[in-house]
Amino acid sequence: MDKTWWKEAVVYQVYWRSFLDSDGDGYGDLEGVIQKLDYIKSLGVDVIWLNPCFESPDVDNGYDISDYCAVMPKAGTMETFQRLIEEIHARDMKMIMDLVVNHTSDQHPWFVESRSSQDNPKRDWYIWRNEPNNWRSYFSPSTWEYDEKTGQYYFHSFAVEQPDLNWKNPEVREEIYRIMKFWLDRGIDGFRMDAIAILAKQDGFPDAENPEDISYLGNNPGIHEYLQEMNEKVLQHYDLLTVGELAFVKAEEGPLYVDRERKELHTLFHFEVCDYMENWDMLQFKSIQKRWYESLWGRGWNSQFLNNHDHTRLVTRFGNVSTYREESAKCFATMLHTLPGTPYIYQGEEIGMTGVRFDSIEDYNDIAMKNKYKEEIGKRRDPQTVFEELLPLARDNSRTPMQWDANKNAGFTEGRPWININPNYKEINVEEALQDQNSIYYFYKKLIELRKQNQVMIYGTYEPVLEDDEEIYAYYREDGQEKWLVILNISEEDAERDWSQFVSLEDAELLLGNYDLPRSNTLAPYEARIYRL
Ligand code: NOJ
Repeated sequence: MDKTWWKEAVVYQVYWRSFLDSDGDGYGDLEGVIQKLDYIKSLGVDVIWLNPCFESPDVDNGYDISDYCAVMPKAGTMETFQRLIEEIHARDMKMIMDLVVNHTSDQHPWFVESRSSQDNPKRDWYIWRNEPNNWRSYFSPSTWEYDEKTGQYYFHSFAVEQPDLNWKNPEVREEIYRIMKFWLDRGIDGFRMDAIAILAKQDGFPDAENPEDISYLGNNPGIHEYLQEMNEKVLQHYDLLTVGELAFVKAEEGPLYVDRERKELHTLFHFEVCDYMENWDMLQFKSIQKRWYESLWGRGWNSQFLNNHDHTRLVTRFGNVSTYREESAKCFATMLHTLPGTPYIYQGEEIGMTGVRFDSIEDYNDIAMKNKYKEEIGKRRDPQTVFEELLPLARDNSRTPMQWDANKNAGFTEGRPWININPNYKEINVEEALQDQNSIYYFYKKLIELRKQNQVMIYGTYEPVLEDDEEIYAYYREDGQEKWLVILNISEEDAERDWSQFVSLEDAELLLGNYDLPRSNTLAPYEARIYRL
């Protein structure tokens, strides 16, 4: 297998608006990111993924862009942006940015023109029809919005304020390629490609039998032509990392996007876990890992993540925050860093930050949650019931500010934070974590160090054992020089197994574990061990 820096990298996601506020306006900003680069570097990560910071009315936290080549004032200025890249490179790290080109903001001058008349030259830059079909969008009951002035409907996969671009139009594509070069020439090292699998639309927009299953939105014919053209015109001319957000793409289709022979993307996020596995389900998870490993191995590259700014924090969703927060955080970290693929850490994950539960819908900001709430209330449902239903997977769960210390506002801002701080910041914060050698933070650091020193963790084959076991997840990684066995007890009970056929517990070298216990056949709740055989 060919070796590349982005396979060996560990990526740290910075949701800047919740990272560190340097000017007291209540929003994190790029200057705040600069101030904490040494902290990020101290973990050992190689790449920072920065969420969108372009000019935007901000109805979807920057994913509704109104000027692709300007920095939004909340985040800072172009000068700060430029300095951020320099400071990242000076620390021998790289930075990738979001490329959000399935849609723009409805305030983007292109859309303002497009909606001004049916014969405007930009009309065809978006998707207009005389009649809607029955599709649902991600954030609202219909993908179509009627435009009074010109008497037609426009298409939006997300919110009404996020009209989809018409990728069939070559002028649109050329303009996007120009924008991509604009940022690459400013020194960025790649793109996290937002909603990239949904650029191509189904011809004729046929009604769906079951409109609730919105998979018609993505992975449609035409997508690979666009990605190959993008690669030919832009991507292949730079040394970069491209990771596609591939909703609706199944394991067997993954190679179509990332097989290196096809010259499209380097790696991907699939959503079989975050979108389809609400709670921890061991057998389902094992089957997902196996299918993706078998379809990608030797052809393309996977990514490993269990949370991000769209998905509830992993300890809250999959672990146990009441009794085993530290243990479960370390156990999942061990898994994410030893499975095949590039690991992604979402800010705060490294100190075991938890999902939040505010008291009222007013405390929430996320457009997905608020729109769904309104829709359900509109059906005369009980508001409290609807609210409770939306809480577990609400996107704001993971968007609360970074908890730096036990001071006011967790050290995040001197002003009023744009979203409330998680009240547990006095116990869970970076300052605490740095003072405790057993903290989750130091465990992440060790995992990352281990990855740097042992290529088997990156390029080794993956072979699961005890496949039907519902508590234990165990697998070998092997690269011809070394063979490792990772064993994880992803449960709240002790789990005793006979390990003798896989490993001699006395002889094997225990490289890392999250408990200080004798090496017995019994694994404690959320115990994780990595053995070199
Ligand atoms: C995926 C992003 O991660 C999410 O935050 C955003 O709302 C949608 N794409 C639309 O851009």
